[in-house]
Amino acid sequence: MRCALCGRKAEVKLVRYGTSVCRSCYPEFFRGRVEKTVERLRMFSKDDPVCVALSGGKDSLSLLHALHLLGYKAKAIFIDLGISGYSEGSRKVCEKLCSDLNVDLHVYELRRERGLTLSEVSRKVRRPPCSICGAVKRQATNRMARELGCTVLATGHNLDDEVAFLFSNLLNWNLNYLARQGPVSEAKFKMVKKVKPLCFLTDEEVRIYAEIVGLEVFEGRCPLEGKAPLHFYKRIWNELEGMRPDVKSSFYKGFLRKLKPLLSVDEGELRSCKICGEPTSRDVCSVCSAFMKV
Ligand code: FES
Ligand code: ZN
Repeated sequence: MRCALCGRKAEVKLVRYGTSVCRSCYPEFFRGRVEKTVERLRMFSKDDPVCVALSGGKDSLSLLHALHLLGYKAKAIFIDLGISGYSEGSRKVCEKLCSDLNVDLHVYELRRERGLTLSEVSRKVRRPPCSICGAVKRQATNRMARELGCTVLATGHNLDDEVAFLFSNLLNWNLNYLARQGPVSEAKFKMVKKVKPLCFLTDEEVRIYAEIVGLEVFEGRCPLEGKAPLHFYKRIWNELEGMRPDVKSSFYKGFLRKLKPLLSVDEGELRSCKICGEPTSRDVCSVCSAFMKV
């Protein structure tokens, strides 16, 4: 089979697009898909300063790499939670890519900002680290993007992530989460616009991009992560995809087209946290309440 872009021998079979490309054309194909999503969903333009939240994994690093090469004004941030054996390694690969691309990397250190690392606070308040982690990351990335003057915050969630979240929210009938799930969340009271430019690309497609362009990624798993059912859901969806190519994409797009418009978000009115000033639906945000109990 021939590469659909240059006519040379094809090496990457793209079953769900009904085509194949060679390894040298694959990055261009991938970036083309990213650009199409950004433009179609009006995520941001080439003039908007975009903040990319890096984790050190292949998804966020590929996102920064692709956006930078596509000519978007990308800035990078990293949240250092002080998790030993994990945060150092992931921070190192983020620093490496940013220095290769000549993109500024802004780091939020939880210990510096809040006085404790994630493991310390979770031990002290006797709560699972993941329950605090999500709130810390959401708050810190939003604050950094805003303070860096970015109107948009982009994350590396891919199609497999989105489908696994969606599946989990459906299994539990989390209507409020379902209403909020999607590739774009518009800006509101102190919250910048959030976008997921890789949401229509599979885990495997991102992995191939990272590998071909030679990204150094951090492969380690967070040692504090509990037994998240999301990994199990992803395996189920990979089996389904093997039987019916493109089922992940049609499931996700079907949700966005048919169910999401019928749902309404109920998150209460947002106000400033009395302690840190960040947006919250309560008097004191969940991050401040966790750290206050210490
Ligand atoms: Fe969030 Fe490990 S990265 S608990
Ligand atoms: Zn607060």
